[in-house]
Amino acid sequence: MTPKTAVVLLAAGPGTRMRSALPKVLHAAAGRTLLDRTLATARAVAADRPGSRVVVVTGPGDADPVRAHVKSTEPGALLAAQASPRGTGDALRAAIPALGDATRVVVLPGDAPLVTAASVRRLLDEVDARPDVPVAFLTAHLPDPSGYGRILRDAHGIVVAVVEERDASEKEREIREANGGVYAFDRAFLDAALPRLEPTNAAGELYLTDLLAMAVESGRPARGVAAAAEEILGVNTRADLARVEGILRARAAAAAMEGGAALLRPETVTLDETVVLAPDTVVEPFVTLLGATTAGEGTRIGQGCVVRDCVLGRNVTVKPYSVLEGARVGDGAVVGPFARLREGTDLGPEVHVGNFVETKKAKLGRGAKANHLTYLGDAVVGERTNVGAGVITCNYDGFAKHPTKIGKGVFVGSDVQLVAPVTVGDGAVIGAGTTVTKDVPADALATSRTPQRTVEGGGTAYRSRKAPAKKKG
Ligand code: UD1
Ligand code: CA
Repeated sequence: MTPKTAVVLLAAGPGTRMRSALPKVLHAAAGRTLLDRTLATARAVAADRPGSRVVVVTGPGDADPVRAHVKSTEPGALLAAQASPRGTGDALRAAIPALGDATRVVVLPGDAPLVTAASVRRLLDEVDARPDVPVAFLTAHLPDPSGYGRILRDAHGIVVAVVEERDASEKEREIREANGGVYAFDRAFLDAALPRLEPTNAAGELYLTDLLAMAVESGRPARGVAAAAEEILGVNTRADLARVEGILRARAAAAAMEGGAALLRPETVTLDETVVLAPDTVVEPFVTLLGATTAGEGTRIGQGCVVRDCVLGRNVTVKPYSVLEGARVGDGAVVGPFARLREGTDLGPEVHVGNFVETKKAKLGRGAKANHLTYLGDAVVGERTNVGAGVITCNYDGFAKHPTKIGKGVFVGSDVQLVAPVTVGDGAVIGAGTTVTKDVPADALATSRTPQRTVEGGGTAYRSRKAPAKKKG
């Protein structure tokens, strides 16, 4: 039978080196917090070991933002409170009451988001298979191991200790093999060793890593299990976070290309891993695609666009420098350049929305066009309707928002204001410059212009009044 396992996530550290008001584990990499990423790994490890549990160590009190985050996103996890952050060893001590009858204890740092469940399983396999191994942990050879604990091995390659950078001698700092901070313990060893930790180090903290030296002293040395350098990347600083972000984005870009999307300059594209691109989509340089965005076959997203939580159909063209959020765009539609589609925009097939057009809660029927300088908010626009340049739906009266309904095949001239609530029937024609304040029936013509007055020679007379009198020489 698989031993019951407690997966403990350490997330009570303040993350001082981030220099941020936000706790470190609540910072996001590629659109997802470090905490959510490490929680997902913890959950995956616990899931295939029956009777297992996830324990998260946070600061005390419901006001603690990490605690609140875990409560709302992972209600199945048990919470353990560390009164004050006195080191990783102290954090694990805080978890003891929540371990129950688990006979294996996995420890994951909340700030190492690239650790995989597969690697954690390898650690557990070591401890499960071999009674002489009380603890297995991840190590990796890093080109630059600064900031990490270094692995000290004896002449036979046995792990004798992990020494933290600030406690290390010059010679020890040259060691490239670093501690990933990920462990699988046999519970009996942990129960015996953990109470014996002492804060005898430069930081005056309880170091979890001291347990590894205790293992060798007990005659059962720890097993270091090798991982790829990238995997153990811990986030202590903003620069570390940017590196993790870069890795995750590059992976998302690689996956998109594998799926048949053409990323013209992939290193310039910012892609959340949640984005789904169909084969033969084209993503031009410097595009940002975020959240639950999907794009159908043959869709092209132009240079510099930002698209968040949008559903783009097939063969859509989004021209450069458009910003789309929470919009649906139908097959064959053309958007931009410089268009802004906001929350609740729903463009039918073959719709054209051009430059400097803003839409919000606007539904445009098949083939409708709004090509220049327009605001459509809380509006429904029927099929084939043409919205001229500079048209504004006046949806807000200073107190509440009101709807504008425009039927099918309507011609809305340039510079028209539609003062909502107002309805324009199918086939109506609205003259340029009209302020529509009353409903317009189907097939009617509406204008609200004052008649034009033309004075012959009036221009010349005007100029002569304005121009300063010429001095006579
Ligand atoms: C730790 C290891 C180091 C390893 C590195 C890998 C120790 C002493 N050192 O160093 O050997 O190379 O991780 O990333 O363990 N935390 C708490 N309570 C505390 C302190 C920390 O919950 O009192 C949590 C933090 O929120 C963080 C994790 O433990 O998620 C690691 O703490 P951190 O201070 O970042 O340890 P490192 O200095 O990186
Ligand atoms: Ca760290």
